[in-house]
Parts: sequence; C-alpha cells; structure tokens
Amino acid sequence: MTAIQITNLTKTYANGTQALKNINLQVEAGDFFALLGANGAGKTTLIGILTDLVKKTSGQVKISGCDIDHDFSKAKKFIGVVPQEINLNIFERVIDILITQAGYFGIPRQEAFGEAQMLLKRLGLWEKRMNVPRTLSGGMKRRLMIARALMHQPKVLFLDEPTAGVDVEIRHEMWQYLRELNAAGMTILLTTHYLEEVEQMCRNAAIIKGGEIIMCDSVKKLVAVMEREVYVVSVQQVKPSVVLEKYQPRVIDETTLEVELSRKDTLHDFVFHLAQAEMILTDIRPKGHRLEKLFLEVLNN
Ligand SMILES: Nc1ncnc2c1ncn2[C@@H]1O[C@H](COP(=O)(O)OP(=O)(O)OP(=O)(O)O)[C@@H](O)[C@H]1O
Ligand SMILES: [Mg+2]
Repeated sequence: MTAIQITNLTKTYANGTQALKNINLQVEAGDFFALLGANGAGKTTLIGILTDLVKKTSGQVKISGCDIDHDFSKAKKFIGVVPQEINLNIFERVIDILITQAGYFGIPRQEAFGEAQMLLKRLGLWEKRMNVPRTLSGGMKRRLMIARALMHQPKVLFLDEPTAGVDVEIRHEMWQYLRELNAAGMTILLTTHYLEEVEQMCRNAAIIKGGEIIMCDSVKKLVAVMEREVYVVSVQQVKPSVVLEKYQPRVIDETTLEVELSRKDTLHDFVFHLAQAEMILTDIRPKGHRLEKLFLEVLNN
C-alpha cells in the first residue's frame, strides 16, 4: 500500500519562482520518511501541496490512494499536519485548541476530551491545559501542534521541521514519541536540516535541492555514501597491480591514482597494499566527495 504517491509535480508561484520541478516520489504506508534540504529547497511547498494548503501548478498527488484533486475531503481524514510556522489560535486555551480541532473532524466533545487528555499527558502539556499559547515556551507550542495534528488519529503525519528551536532533551523525547507512533503503524514524513534526526528515526529519505529530488534512498545507503571519501594518491610510478584491485583505483595519469575509501577501509591498509604493489607513495590527500559537499551544503543550514 502506498501512503503518498507524487507524479510529475510542479509548482510555480505567482511571482514566477519555480519552487518544485517535476517531483516524482513514493512513500509506502508505515514508512518513516525524511525530506532533507537547504533553506528554500522546496520542502514546505511540497508539504503544503500534499496537505492542500498550497495549490499545485501541475502533476498528480495521491494520499492513501485518494487523488487530492478529486477527493481531498476524503484524503483530509487521513492526514495530520504540523506546520513549520506556529499557527495556534492565541485566544483559545490549550485544551480547547484540541477539542476545536477534533470538532472539524466530527469527533464528539466527550471523546475528544479523552483523546486530548491522553495526548497532553504524553507530550508533557497536561499542566498547561488551561493556558493560552502566549504563555507557552516555543518547544511547548511545537508539542501542542503535534497533539493537535494527532486528535483525529491520522494515518499519515506530516511534520515540517518539528524540532526547530526545541532543546536536546525535549527533542529526544519527541523522537521517541514519533518512533512509537510509527511503530504503531502511522506513516510519517518530516522535513529537517539535521542528519542526526534522520539517522535516529527515518528509514528512507529524499534530498531536495532547487525544487528537484536529487537523491532518494534508504537512510542506511545515504549514510554509507556519506562515509566514503575520495583520495588523490601520488606515487613515483603507477603500476598495474592485483593487490589493489579491491579498492578499484582510477588511474588519472602515470603518477596519480584516485581511490574511494569507506571509513571501514582504513587509510593504513590502503597504504600497506600500495607498498605491496611496489608503488612509492609521494603524497595522499582527500579530494572531497561530490556527495559529501552536497550534504554539507544541505545540512549546514
Ligand atoms: N508564497 C510564496 N510566493 C512566492 N514564492 C514562494 C512562496 N513560498 C515559498 N516561495 C519560494 O519557493 C521556494 C521554496 O520555498 P519553501 O518554503 O518551500 O522552501 P523550504 O525548503 O521549506 O525552506 P526552509 O528550509 O527555509 O523552510 C523558495 O525560493 C521560496 O522563496
Ligand atoms: Mg520550510
């Protein structure tokens, strides 16, 4: 079962900004999926379209099999959204914010109260139930937005930078709670700038850059790619060699090789094998990996 199916999606804003360029993406039900990208990459635009807050220019989007163009009222029941910007009603008390939200989904007050109580306790906000949002800290507001998104027990939860501005301890608690929700079957898609967040929680991830998906793979593979590095190796004379075959070196010229090593293959082992191949090392230096640069660009934001 596919939770999110995006086909040839584009978005051009009225001012001409091409925020999304032919996005194709599929997220399976039960996945925990990360959308990584720098500021302005298009993450919020994409979530906006998936949750019907932003009108797409062209393409097709299906949530739990419902085409949002024809069936958004049905799809809406499956979707929970935690937006990037805090958008809590400043006049309502915490508990009422949750009960009002449940009302939009036709959930009776009594039932909503039970759900709200459970969520507020679980997210450490029960003591604050009579407060208005103005009197909550930034991290509390974020947690309240998560509780609000969960009131109607959605199948697919979208979180746009849920842990921005949240301290480390609360961040870890939020990760734990999101992992529990996912383990109980909820599909979760979140946007983030933090690779650590992705490694801790997500199974699959896509990297978006300039409105295009430039990579989409399992988190394990993305991390493995990051852990490889290309070295430029200078020797007195490049020679053909069997012992070096396992490193698949590229011959650049008669005194230069390039070799990609993962952190598992130590440099020491490579240099040892180079000596066995009777090549005299004169210099070795990291070249910097194309993907590593990309990740730095994506993540140092
Ligand atoms: N309402 C709008 N009108 C015009 N351009 C917009 C609008 N909203 C976003 N954009 C532009 O679309 C592009 C993508 O923006 P978006 O907010 O989707 O990025 P993002 O990946 O969420 O960034 P951030 O990490 O800063 O939240 C940017 O160039 C942005 O300036
Ligand atoms: Mg954003």
